[in-house]
Amino acid sequence: MASGERCAAVLGTGRMGSAMARRLAAAGFRVYLWNRTLGKAEVLAAEIGGVAVEEPRAAAERCKRVHLVVSDDEAVYDVLTGLGGLVAGGKGLEGVRVYNHVTMTPRGSLEAMRLVERAGGVYVEAPVAGNPGNALEGRLVILCASRLGEGVCRDEALEALGTPVYLGEPPVAAAAKLGFNIFFLGVVTAMGEALALAESYGLDADRFLGEVIGRTWLRQIVERYGARIKPRGEASFAARLAGKDARYAARALQERGVPGFLASAVASYYALMSHEGYGDEDYPAIAGFLAEYARRSREPRSPA
Ligand SMILES: NC(=O)c1ccc[n+]([C@@H]2O[C@H](COP(=O)([O-])OP(=O)(O)OC[C@H]3O[C@@H](n4cnc5c(N)ncnc54)[C@H](OP(=O)(O)O)[C@@H]3O)[C@@H](O)[C@H]2O)c1
Repeated sequence: MASGERCAAVLGTGRMGSAMARRLAAAGFRVYLWNRTLGKAEVLAAEIGGVAVEEPRAAAERCKRVHLVVSDDEAVYDVLTGLGGLVAGGKGLEGVRVYNHVTMTPRGSLEAMRLVERAGGVYVEAPVAGNPGNALEGRLVILCASRLGEGVCRDEALEALGTPVYLGEPPVAAAAKLGFNIFFLGVVTAMGEALALAESYGLDADRFLGEVIGRTWLRQIVERYGARIKPRGEASFAARLAGKDARYAARALQERGVPGFLASAVASYYALMSHEGYGDEDYPAIAGFLAEYARRSREPRSPA
């Protein structure tokens, strides 16, 4: 870290990155911010008393604790190897710890580790379970993996963000994160197919949830998601990113010889939802989207 200063550099100020940056600033860290669309980092920096920088490398020069919070594998490569990227030139990360919070493929994470280590840095896989609200409250579950062992996961910035859980060496945390996501994405997508089935045969989705599912042990799922299945025009975790995670889970399973049928189906449903213009809705809206899809397919077609 910069001498005497508790600092953190946050690269990517989207939903999760900006919540993490706010939490770190509130916990007393000097926060350096970079975002591809620089204006967003500048606005956030002004709000939280942080410092916006123009390229990823400049953030790592100011602070030796770097948090990557961009969207996907491609974005990670861009931040690492693009113009002004963290490892552009192949050197310059000596003494820098890169905490990678991105939900990405195990293969992509290993490649990121190779690039960071070749440039002299320490790579820590640290994908998160939880939402931006949990980040603001310091209640994320941080799945942590490193070749240096548990010590780098017991870091004061990670502990300000939530509870780090050490799992072993990369890419085990990347795999565990995809496992977690396909678990709950499978649940909301299954709910969507159940609603579509009810709707297709003339039973209103709300009645089905209230009078059938709500009377069984599955009501816990309705209690958690019921109010979030209709598109609301806002998201804490966007459907297009949920689709990305399901796609990555399918790919990771297939690389290990497991067919990944469920993950592929979930990915296809989210692709359909995004294609129909709902990619920026919150991920549970897949259920309402599928119910609506079934409702539409039931409507009498006008003669050609
Ligand atoms: N939101 C959640 O509840 C949640 C929970 C757990 C894990 N995650 C994971 O956290 C990560 C961030 O999610 P989010 O919800 O914050 O997403 P988001 O709101 O969509 O923000 C995405 C961020 O990635 C940046 N980005 C996208 N493509 C890029 C590229 N090619 N090069 C550089 N930067 C790029 C965006 O920059 P611009 O502003 O320029 O577009 C933005 O800062 C994802 O891996 C996600 O799966 C999210």
